[in-house]
Amino acid sequence: MPIITFPENFIWGAASASYQTEGGNGASALAGDWEKRKGWEPCGAACGSWDRFDEDLRCLEALGANAYRFSLEWSRLEPRPGVFDDEALRRYEDWIRRLRAAAIEPVVTLHHFSEPAWLLREHPRGWLDAGVRERWLDLVGRVGAALSSSVRWWTTINEPMVFAISAYGAGAFPPGRRMLLGSLREFNEVLVPALARAHREAYALIKKRRPDAMVSLAHHVGELLPARPGDEGAVDRWDWFFHRHFLDLTKEALDYVGLNYYTRAFVATPRVPFFPMSALPGYAEFERELGPWAFRLLGGVRGPLPRTDMGWEIAPESFGRVVSRLWKDYGKPILVTENGIADAGGAGREAYLREHLSSLRGAMDGGARVLGYLHWSLTDNWEWGSYRPRFGLFDRDRRPAGGADFYARVCRTGRLA
Ligand code: BGC
Repeated sequence: MPIITFPENFIWGAASASYQTEGGNGASALAGDWEKRKGWEPCGAACGSWDRFDEDLRCLEALGANAYRFSLEWSRLEPRPGVFDDEALRRYEDWIRRLRAAAIEPVVTLHHFSEPAWLLREHPRGWLDAGVRERWLDLVGRVGAALSSSVRWWTTINEPMVFAISAYGAGAFPPGRRMLLGSLREFNEVLVPALARAHREAYALIKKRRPDAMVSLAHHVGELLPARPGDEGAVDRWDWFFHRHFLDLTKEALDYVGLNYYTRAFVATPRVPFFPMSALPGYAEFERELGPWAFRLLGGVRGPLPRTDMGWEIAPESFGRVVSRLWKDYGKPILVTENGIADAGGAGREAYLREHLSSLRGAMDGGARVLGYLHWSLTDNWEWGSYRPRFGLFDRDRRPAGGADFYARVCRTGRLA
């Protein structure tokens, strides 16, 4: 079999997020009462990355990574409304300087799910109030002024649709709204446009400071398939709702498409007319939320492929198809901003990487322009309520997990050998 190789200047690295790794982020709306209310395992010290950046850097160097995607914690940078913590910003600046010194390109995310507790007290309706967008853009402006000379690559909002559904549909994140039939309209006509506008304005702020900046968002996209013959319409509706709507509202403000790819889903037409959405995707999370019995009664279908510890089907071929389709539909280069496997034993990670990277290369051979691949995640971390799912190339003690050696060879050689 011929050896699969990637271009010389390909971006190779790993991704993480502040709330999941830094630790000590008690000012976030996700901490304290919210955590208790949800019965989550406390995030607490997480990976201690706030004080252990040296060790994170050593992990990246051990991989031979040339890029690292991480996020800035809003609740740290602005602990009180309008009061900014310059020391916290300086610490991020220091990380960036050290990454650069190690020839690792920083890819900075400006919103990765976590928001300050004060923000939700000030605006209990969250992003449904324009004030939240204004507050966030104020932060983006300050961060852009401080960092744009040393940061070229940005992702504004991580998975805006996953965030919107979690916080305003499923009630999992603050402000904890649940989607009812009537609120679908508000979701599509107020919330999603507000987040999209925030992205566009953040894009403009950064580009004004640094015209050669590469700015995008990290969009969660999976392959969607009809659950049964006749469900093609449901596939299209969910595809618009979850994938295309946001990209269509932001496509003029994307220098690349940041893609978080994890799995595929079968989409069914719900068997009751009053279901809020006219499409029922077969994600593990939906099955859990509705309960397996109601999920199936409504017509929900889960796929037959082997699953990760998250219950997500391992669907490498879908990855290449998603990449090809994004390239065809939007014509922008693609940076894989996340892809990875929750695999506590670590035994499945090498095969997962081989299959997903082969599929990615296949899409590139078919013409898709792909800039790089950032594996989720650098270390095991707090997976939104629990430490059980283990996505890390390293554990929380920074010991390499299964597959890390293999990935290091890929990063160093650009070949799947
Ligand atoms: C998110 C990460 C998360 C990962 C695995 C993505 O949805 O951006 O924060 O940990 O997937 O669930």
